[in-house]
Amino acid sequence: MSKNDKTINIAIIGCGDMGRMHSDCLAQMESVRLLWFCDTDLAQAASLAQRYPESRPTASAEDVFADPRVHAVYIATQTDSHLQLCLAAARARKPILVEKPVTLCSTGTLEVMRAFQQAQLPAMVGFKFRFYSLVHCARALVSAPYSIHVQVMDDPWPPDFWANDIAKGGGNVISQGIHGADLLRFLSGSEPRSVFAVGKNYHQPTGVIDHLSAVYRFANDAAGTLIVGDSGQPPGLGKFLVQLFGREGVVVLSDRLTRLAFHPVGREEVQYRQGEEDGFINENRAFIQLVRGYAAPDSSLYEGFLSQLMIDAALASAQSRQVESLASRHE
Ligand SMILES: NC(=O)c1ccc[n+]([C@@H]2O[C@H](COP(=O)([O-])OP(=O)(O)OC[C@H]3O[C@@H](n4cnc5c(N)ncnc54)[C@H](O)[C@@H]3O)[C@@H](O)[C@H]2O)c1
Repeated sequence: MSKNDKTINIAIIGCGDMGRMHSDCLAQMESVRLLWFCDTDLAQAASLAQRYPESRPTASAEDVFADPRVHAVYIATQTDSHLQLCLAAARARKPILVEKPVTLCSTGTLEVMRAFQQAQLPAMVGFKFRFYSLVHCARALVSAPYSIHVQVMDDPWPPDFWANDIAKGGGNVISQGIHGADLLRFLSGSEPRSVFAVGKNYHQPTGVIDHLSAVYRFANDAAGTLIVGDSGQPPGLGKFLVQLFGREGVVVLSDRLTRLAFHPVGREEVQYRQGEEDGFINENRAFIQLVRGYAAPDSSLYEGFLSQLMIDAALASAQSRQVESLASRHE
């Protein structure tokens, strides 16, 4: 950071788990001031604001958008409110970090992407896994994988959890599967072209699709498999699992992507590395750099759109029982 870097004033909209997580990260950074905490539940906003003396709580996002001191806005509300809040941010000319999924379907995310393109404003999506040190390490070890496997298998989601509601959070496959789709895209280094998937509502009383298995073909002919569900975290592996198979050998990332094992091709030994869950802090640092105009976004709205397209097409394939093209959906 240069001595001339001015203080960046931040507003957080949505003061639940993610609002708290991001403000904890921002509070560790130099020349970043938390100015507003906004939540429709004012008590939530107030409980975060009282931790930062320079900040104020509000229940109205308008207060945030109308304040010329605000340099950037975090949108960390429940997913069904993202579309309106993102569009309001673009109108108010505020850069955003929006939590994943950007909206509940790819058409909404495309609308947000176009609004930010038109306004020529920086924006980032909260794809924290792109910012894990060990994910970067895996990508460097197997740089052009033939096959990638990503698994997001959670413990059963409570039926009354808002994210399990089709209209509010889209359910587990959309809400968490999007992380998996984005990891496939990131690790393949290529654009998804088609998908065949099997998935349905197996057990959730909400009727939402709770398990999905999908095979993607990428433009560089890499294959990506995605398994998402909530029938229980696999013992010994954890909720998030990634495997890369390629010319250089095999990489396995397990235990929430904090443990890496690499078996170089043709060698006896297996190399191990232990990492940490450093995605949130690295993501926040990248966003502040982006707001300062120093770096290109690593996790743009285009990435948000592509990953959502991958999930939308997989859900369509599960219904049609046909291979679905992503290229045609892209136009
Ligand atoms: N990146 C990740 O790993 C990760 C993990 C969990 C959740 N998320 C995403 O983060 C977002 C928030 O999830 P959470 O777990 O923090 O939810 P949460 O329920 O803990 O918090 C959401 C807050 O938003 C508030 N809110 C809802 N609508 C609002 C509006 N229109 N204006 C202002 N405030 C509003 C609610 O009152 C609530 O306090 C979701 O999009 C979710 O998918 C991301």
